[in-house]
Amino acid sequence: MQSALEKYKTIFAEQLEDYFKNNPCDIQPIFKALRYGIENGGKRIRPALCYLASEFCNKDTEFVASIAVGIEMIHSYSLVHDDLPCMDDDSLRRGKPTSHIVFGEGMAVLSGDALLNMAFEAMLGDKNFDSNALQAIRYIAKNSGINGMIGGQCIDLANEDKSNYSLDEILKLNRLKTSCLLKSALVGSMIKCGGNAEEIKDMENFANKLGEIFQIVDDILDKTSTKEVLGKEINQDSANGKKTVVDILGIEKSIEYASKLESSAIADIEKHGKRSEKLIALCKYLSRRLN
Ligand code: IPE
Ligand code: IPE
Ligand code: MG
Ligand code: MG
Ligand code: MG
Repeated sequence: MQSALEKYKTIFAEQLEDYFKNNPCDIQPIFKALRYGIENGGKRIRPALCYLASEFCNKDTEFVASIAVGIEMIHSYSLVHDDLPCMDDDSLRRGKPTSHIVFGEGMAVLSGDALLNMAFEAMLGDKNFDSNALQAIRYIAKNSGINGMIGGQCIDLANEDKSNYSLDEILKLNRLKTSCLLKSALVGSMIKCGGNAEEIKDMENFANKLGEIFQIVDDILDKTSTKEVLGKEINQDSANGKKTVVDILGIEKSIEYASKLESSAIADIEKHGKRSEKLIALCKYLSRRLN
């Protein structure tokens, strides 16, 4: 899986570079800041999910290029804003100082806004734009908005020292802030590729669980890894008084919980046989990731 991800990373770098080359901006401060927020660093998991979904539908990586670029722009904007002093107040991201440290808070806010707008400009400008593409973009807009990622971030904002969020509330928060964007990548791409209703339902179930696993691992790594490996500060959740699944269940039981989710996620898609093999491999890889 590692080598497949490296290959996808290279493909994505080319698609992103192409986009910037074809859509320049001569207002340098904002263009520089928004490129800083998305270029280099980053595991590019969401673009990889787009490509895997396109392969699942027998299409190539080029067919979902605008979706991959758009989703990674949305993800990168969410990170720029997540790191702001008024949110998680982080100083390191993807091994570099965070955007507001380099460009100031105002420009960081604007560069996040700009990435979000550009995401939709990129997806709507798809060269094979059709009704499937439109439906996909609508799905992505919904899942990255108030009933998706932003809704989750909003609930997380109130997750402070005094929060007495229950396990169920934390799980809901994780599904919104993290699963919804992973789901946008996988299912949004499938919709663009003309996936049928049954495949889409299976992929939604798979993506919901994959996102939950992804966030639990992120929360475990926050407590157990190093900033050199992660490229971001550790112990941020406790520093911000954020309660995570790991605080409620402990590390061992969180791993057990994630492992049950992994089996269940695999069961959601394995009936698709060979077409689901790479997605299953990615799910196993992400459950055991170290960064
Ligand atoms: C970080 O996402 C935010 C979470 C949802 C946990 P990633 O771990 O995918 O961050 P990058 O893109 O690799 O920097
Ligand atoms: C953020 O979760 C998820 C987003 C939607 C941005 P975290 O706050 O745990 O992500 P990191 O640890 O800063 O990457
Ligand atoms: Mg956060
Ligand atoms: Mg954060
Ligand atoms: Mg985190």
